[in-house]
Amino acid sequence: MDSRPDTPVRAGPGSTRQEATTWFACARIGPVDPRHAVLFEPINLGPKTLPNRFYQVPHASGFGVAQPQTQAAFRGIKAAGGWGGVCVEYAPVSVDSEETPAVSALFWDQGDADALRLTVDAVHRHDALVGLELFHGGTHSANGQSRAARIVPSQVAASVEWAGLAREMDLADISRVQREWVDAARRARDVGFDIVYVYGAHGYLVTQFFSPHTNRRTDGYGGTLANRGRFWLETLEAVREAVGSDCAVATRIPVAGRQGLPGIDHDEMLELVGLASPLVDLFDVNVGEWPEDSGTSRYHPEGHERRWTDDVTAVTTKPVVGVGRYTSPDLMAEMVRTRALDIIGAARPAIADPYLPNKIREGGPTRSASARDQISASCGRRSSTTSAASRTRQPARSIDEPGIPRSSSGPTTTSSRF
Ligand SMILES: Cc1cc2nc3c(=O)[nH]c(=O)nc-3n(C[C@H](O)[C@H](O)[C@H](O)COP(=O)(O)O)c2cc1C
Repeated sequence: MDSRPDTPVRAGPGSTRQEATTWFACARIGPVDPRHAVLFEPINLGPKTLPNRFYQVPHASGFGVAQPQTQAAFRGIKAAGGWGGVCVEYAPVSVDSEETPAVSALFWDQGDADALRLTVDAVHRHDALVGLELFHGGTHSANGQSRAARIVPSQVAASVEWAGLAREMDLADISRVQREWVDAARRARDVGFDIVYVYGAHGYLVTQFFSPHTNRRTDGYGGTLANRGRFWLETLEAVREAVGSDCAVATRIPVAGRQGLPGIDHDEMLELVGLASPLVDLFDVNVGEWPEDSGTSRYHPEGHERRWTDDVTAVTTKPVVGVGRYTSPDLMAEMVRTRALDIIGAARPAIADPYLPNKIREGGPTRSASARDQISASCGRRSSTTSAASRTRQPARSIDEPGIPRSSSGPTTTSSRF
């Protein structure tokens, strides 16, 4: 990746920025339908340059670090298919965050880093950026292998059925987890990852600190928004300092969405985005918990997260990637053109069709939604979230249509996980 020019937009035949970038994209990859050319413009993520606007967000594969060659092949094919950014799934940084019997990546030590080096090389072979989603599950940690005690911001009943006893974190625990996050980020940089994450979405430890529902602390890490956001911001700051200008720093944030996340207030999250902006090179935004975020097409039309994620680009100038079963090039291009998003994120569309960006570039037909809908959450633990509805071919219905029950705006209890 280091061979990529610092300034991605070179002067071409056109005199305007738009013409110049279109020229650059075309010069590099051949003719593109002008309606979709914006999707092939590079964009800087801090010190790194994403070669286009297609980004495979972190999603579990079932391969983790246990099957490093399969993991590498699985991610490499997406880079070959044109995704400019390709991420590995969530990767715990601490022994007290461990997913067994589900399969995640791990990033505890150099052995894990060496296993994922194959993936880094496989993605770089196609000139894409590769990201690692560093993570701590807090109360959601299963710890089936490590048997370590769970650690939590506060002693509150967990929302997941497998979470049993947990210990409230003292200040030494907080420093230790942050140190482990930093060590993991350094290891990631050293094996060549371009993007390192502070994973704050989907109700895990960072969100548990931010949410007053799970954080009842009376010390400097609880109470006000600034205090509840302290763990998040300090971790971002420490990771940024550790990787310097060698890696882009990303954070995945949840906005509440229709179903809500316990204690996560939409306006508070936007305020946090403002506070985090100086520390972040990429905001990766999604809504709520698993059932809404990875909602089936029957209830969640393409772009269903847009009305929530739109607000994020309004409060930061940093690049924003978002998801929502995006497969239509016209919609994607419109999203980027209007800066509803800077980058089109995809999990299921990238699983269903690793070659989607190349097909859009070549103007050929893209695969239908049917394959995408078959993808189950069983990449990790077997899950009931692949409902019968997603397997039967019913016409898609919007969540706003009459007859589709709306949940109350209050907290939801969920058994979702990756
Ligand atoms: C099989 C599968 C595994 C996932 N694993 C993760 C994960 O490890 N980390 C994460 O942040 N999100 C994970 N997600 C959520 C996705 O990143 C994404 O936010 C969600 O699926 C919505 O995007 P989509 O509509 O493009 O699928 C996963 C989703 C799927 C379908």
